[in-house]
Amino acid sequence: MSPLASDRTTAIFAQMQDPDSLSAQLLAWYDRHARVMPWRVSPQDRAAGIRPDPYRVWLSEVMLQQTTVAAVKDYFHRFTARWPTVSDLAAAEDAQVMGEWAGLGYYARARNLLKCARAVVADHGARFPDRRAGLLTLPGIGPYTASAVAAIAFDEPATVVDGNVERVISRLFRVETPLPAAKPELTALAARLTPATRPGDYAQAIMDLGATICTPRSPACGICPWSHACAARAEGVQAELPRKTPKPEKPTRRGRLWLGHRDGAILLERRPGQGLLGGMLGIPGDAWDGQGGPAPADAAWREIGEVRHTFTHFHLILTVLTARLDAPPRRGDLIPRDRFRPADLPTVMRKAWDLARPVLEADAQKPGTA
Ligand code: ADE
Repeated sequence: MSPLASDRTTAIFAQMQDPDSLSAQLLAWYDRHARVMPWRVSPQDRAAGIRPDPYRVWLSEVMLQQTTVAAVKDYFHRFTARWPTVSDLAAAEDAQVMGEWAGLGYYARARNLLKCARAVVADHGARFPDRRAGLLTLPGIGPYTASAVAAIAFDEPATVVDGNVERVISRLFRVETPLPAAKPELTALAARLTPATRPGDYAQAIMDLGATICTPRSPACGICPWSHACAARAEGVQAELPRKTPKPEKPTRRGRLWLGHRDGAILLERRPGQGLLGGMLGIPGDAWDGQGGPAPADAAWREIGEVRHTFTHFHLILTVLTARLDAPPRRGDLIPRDRFRPADLPTVMRKAWDLARPVLEADAQKPGTA
């Protein structure tokens, strides 16, 4: 934290309404308005002594990074039906897990998910460490996930700071410093509010508040349990916070995908373990750097259109080509149509498949070109 930020934080601490009454107000709101989620134990059930399953808490928190609750629910149900415990997940084949993750994005998370499950089984007797410090030693578990699992699964008073919490705290204390520079200040302020009692419910309550009331645009201040204490609201600047340093524009990259087919089989390949879409099933392509590259087989390739997709750091435009393969491919495997699940493809590849499928089906109808 810069000296200026830490001075300001100290001043805010001095003026802060009693943190215990602020957290108690939020918990009382949560007792009435907690969202129902498949991995969540309700505040009433927690009060009755029911404990959340750390495996389900961890899995949901990894899935929820960069993604919405609505997008995650079906994935969570499928994962927990197929792999009900961390031992089941640790024993799964990489390709199966990558296939179930397809469409959720940020595929390094899926690779780390498996590594983490295997470490929990191999090094911790299939039980998650119950302290934040222990969780941080596991692969793929960073400060956010460690705090969330420690608080929600084990009731450690760890401070959870995601985008929702940043928004709530920046408004409550009217932090004008733009993100990401404001992060240490927001974390220190959030930590000050984290209560020793019911920290697991509190962590979920502040995230729910940000997701349902203290929303990015038009926050519902009229029904917010913290509106009386909110410094941004007192000045009418709540919708302007948190301020953000503008991000540089994303560059656009171009490339090609070659969707070859023969006798109803489709040419696919497993992408290298590291890097973009690492470990995922894919349609062979060039390096997506606009420089071209050799096709996976010599054939009469035909352009059928373009697909567009945006990754964290760039936009991608891919030209899709199809051809019937008469010679064996130089790379990849011809996968029979009945063994290929389009759902196993990451989203950009799925877009290419959706574009190409009618072309392939029309080709299959033509005599001698199945
Ligand atoms: N966002 C990420 N994790 C969450 C949780 N446990 N509760 C509410 N919102 C969340």
